[in-house]
Amino acid sequence: MLRRAALLIILTSPLHAQEVTLRHGDVTLLADFVEAEDTTAPVALITHGTLAHKDMELVETMQDALAERGISSLAHSLSFGIDRREGMADCDAPHTHLDTDADDEIAAWIDWLGDEGHEIPLLIGHSRGGKQVARVAAGRDDLSGVVLMAPATVRSTERGRARYGDALDTVLAEARAAKPDAMLDVPNLLYCRDAKASAASVLSYYDGPATGADIYAADIAAPVLVILAQKDAVLPEAPAAYVPLRGDTLDVKIVEDADHMFLDFFTDDAADLIEAFVADLDAEAEQEKVDFASADLEYGAYLAQECSSCHRESDDTEAVPALNGLDADHIYYALEDYATGLRGNAAMGLVARSLDEEQRIALSAHFSLQED
Ligand code: HEC
Repeated sequence: MLRRAALLIILTSPLHAQEVTLRHGDVTLLADFVEAEDTTAPVALITHGTLAHKDMELVETMQDALAERGISSLAHSLSFGIDRREGMADCDAPHTHLDTDADDEIAAWIDWLGDEGHEIPLLIGHSRGGKQVARVAAGRDDLSGVVLMAPATVRSTERGRARYGDALDTVLAEARAAKPDAMLDVPNLLYCRDAKASAASVLSYYDGPATGADIYAADIAAPVLVILAQKDAVLPEAPAAYVPLRGDTLDVKIVEDADHMFLDFFTDDAADLIEAFVADLDAEAEQEKVDFASADLEYGAYLAQECSSCHRESDDTEAVPALNGLDADHIYYALEDYATGLRGNAAMGLVARSLDEEQRIALSAHFSLQED
């Protein structure tokens, strides 16, 4: 009876959510602060994707999921130049916002958090917000960590421009010739068709080299976690863009079966990854060590026969690399990446998914000890 009562209290206790406003230039910015109980974790500042808002399902669900995991968060809506903006941006309203306005607003919220005693926050950004967060983070040394969820890539920006076709050159020429605040009729602005946009707004999104979180990530001093969605139809190139950036301070994880918006329960999976990332920030990022020393080498040699139909002892073909003498770590994580799809290869995907943990360790140890 007692246990049941306790459970009811947990289920019914409302999360402490609070609307926060911040005066910024000519507009008032809106955000929701959701506070976790008894926490020492850094507060997360969450930035949404293209023309979205703080109450979108992903962001709202993420705030609750993080609070349950002991992480307080502030989710803000980018203003797009509109006072107290709520809900999806109105495509029919004139667009005067710039891509980099987001950076100023993120910085303003970081300052606000600092004033509230939440210094050194964790930044989280989704999609285009991931790119904007990465750009902000690359210029700062006062962040505890950065989480980029399905962050926009250079390639995705190029794709957005390509959708414009030849019309883009005409529109850009018109925008360059006009005064910055002149309003133009354009076929597209982001997702908005037949939009009215200022020349400066058009140039900020479409002129100059294409950008993505992939070009800013290397310059971020704080630890970075990139969370990709396995079934991301919006960013099919994301694994190819982010996996090669992996290193001591940047990790890439994939949420299986998730789509670009991490809808349904996939927000929880992403929150689990963020929780582990935050715990690691505390624990001095001690990397999970795989125990190759106690691997069963005989078993490894036995299993390796299956690999030799494709992998030869030396690189005689370019398509199939030789495995002998590679680092055990390298083989182990390569197998993991093929299994999750982070490294795309149909044959190796099948092979890797058929192996359990013990077999992966045995094979990695076996090949690492063969002479190349
Ligand atoms: C059907 C052919 C085939 C079989 C069988 C096969 N592989 Fe592969 N493997 C490949 C190909 C092709 C690649 C290169 C894929 C790529 O470009 O990423 C590869 C790549 C790899 C890599 C990445 C090497 C690197 O340089 O990063 C590892 C590790 C690997 N295989 C391990 C294994 C193991 C262990 C087995 C046996 C359990 C195995 N493979 C069986 C075809 C095969």
